Amino acid sequence: MATHQQPQTIIPSLPSYDYQPKLYNGPSLQEVAHLRQEYINPVVSTYYQKPIMIVEGSMQYVFDETGKRYLDAFAGIATISVGHCHPHVVEAVQEQSAKLQHSTTLYLHPTIAEYGKMLVDKMPDNLSKVYFVNSGSEANDLAMLMARVYTQNFDIITLRNGYHGMTGQTMGLTSQNTWKYPIPHNFGIHHAINADPYRGPWSHDDDNIADKYANDVKNLIEQATCGNIAAFIAESIQGVGGTVVYPDGYLKKVLEYVHQANGLFIADEVQTGFCRTGNFWGFEQQGIIPDIVTLAKGIGNGVPLAAVVTTPDIAQAFTQKIHFNTFAGNPVSCAAGKAVLETLERENIQENCATVGNYLLDGLRQLQAKYEFIGDVRGSGLMIGVDLVKNRETKEPDSQLTSQVHELSKYLGLIVGKGGLYRNVLRIKPPLCISKYDANFIVEVLDYAFNLI
Ligand SMILES: Cc1ncc(COP(=O)(O)O)c(C=O)c1O
Repeated sequence: MATHQQPQTIIPSLPSYDYQPKLYNGPSLQEVAHLRQEYINPVVSTYYQKPIMIVEGSMQYVFDETGKRYLDAFAGIATISVGHCHPHVVEAVQEQSAKLQHSTTLYLHPTIAEYGKMLVDKMPDNLSKVYFVNSGSEANDLAMLMARVYTQNFDIITLRNGYHGMTGQTMGLTSQNTWKYPIPHNFGIHHAINADPYRGPWSHDDDNIADKYANDVKNLIEQATCGNIAAFIAESIQGVGGTVVYPDGYLKKVLEYVHQANGLFIADEVQTGFCRTGNFWGFEQQGIIPDIVTLAKGIGNGVPLAAVVTTPDIAQAFTQKIHFNTFAGNPVSCAAGKAVLETLERENIQENCATVGNYLLDGLRQLQAKYEFIGDVRGSGLMIGVDLVKNRETKEPDSQLTSQVHELSKYLGLIVGKGGLYRNVLRIKPPLCISKYDANFIVEVLDYAFNLI
């Protein structure tokens, strides 16, 4: 039985793993860094003072060019679901690539059809029509358009601190100044108070916290729109914003107000879908059935694939014009998507995610009891945030400490993410196949780093 306890003076070591990375023969880290600096747009940034170069991956681990192994507790930003280079996904992609890589949806192909069925079979009953795209931003952009076309309303409500993508439209939804360029992108979009029990105006100590936050959506509909809206969109748990978990019952109440205003409820499941939260879909935790669901990231285990799933009526309304996307439903991406669903099922990954996720949360909460600067540990399944503060009372974010821990963890063989508007939340979102031994390693590395800094 794995345990969390180890003296923090011993340098933590990765769980053993029987895998030999291939000898790396490519350009050096310095050459690659130089090429990137010369030719890639400088907005494309890297983590760490000295970036790492990841050249190989196997399940929950990645390897740099020297063969050093890391536990990837960020999973390419919550994207590797079943494991890096999972053999079943690799085989499906290789097989399909060798047969046909592209055809477009103008012609029939078995994979998109079979995969479409498999995917909607995982959804609540009425969500039975899927439109494939290539990224989360594209999926949200399309969902906004579908909602506007179906309802013939324009206004969209979303939450402050949310992240929904980087296209012109979705940047309007995204509600953190760090991701918003000074262009007009918010037209018709209104941002409600974030239902954040840790940093928001109401905490779990307040009575009827869910109602209080949901009332702000109601007020916004009444006071900022004509009374009818196209949609409300929210992440089921906020990801980029620092793993914000809404109070129980919040989205259910919001859904009521949205439907009263003839709007549609869009669940952005880009991070929370495919078992990440311990449920198959993140919205299940809030006991709701959305009208539109957007999917990306874990859907393809790293292969570019995304989707918008909705009801037959909403899909039908969209047929009034031609709509086309060149790579949509690409046979290779769909083969990967199919293999991911098969693997989730075969390897009982949802249960692993829930069990190891609870175990890891428990270990992190033990650290919270030990270190005053851990203001909050929150999350669900393997979508976890550790909020670092200068002072537990004021909750002043400590982004410097977060950066230091982030750097040091890398040297110790652990990759985690950083997030939240103030960059003070350690984001832990490993591939869903990690074991309790990996969870122990995460806790031990953070303990070691917290103790040293
Ligand atoms: C919740 C959520 N929605 C949408 C997106 C945008 O996805 P993409 O980067 O694939 O465009 C992201 C990306 O991080 C996300 O976390």
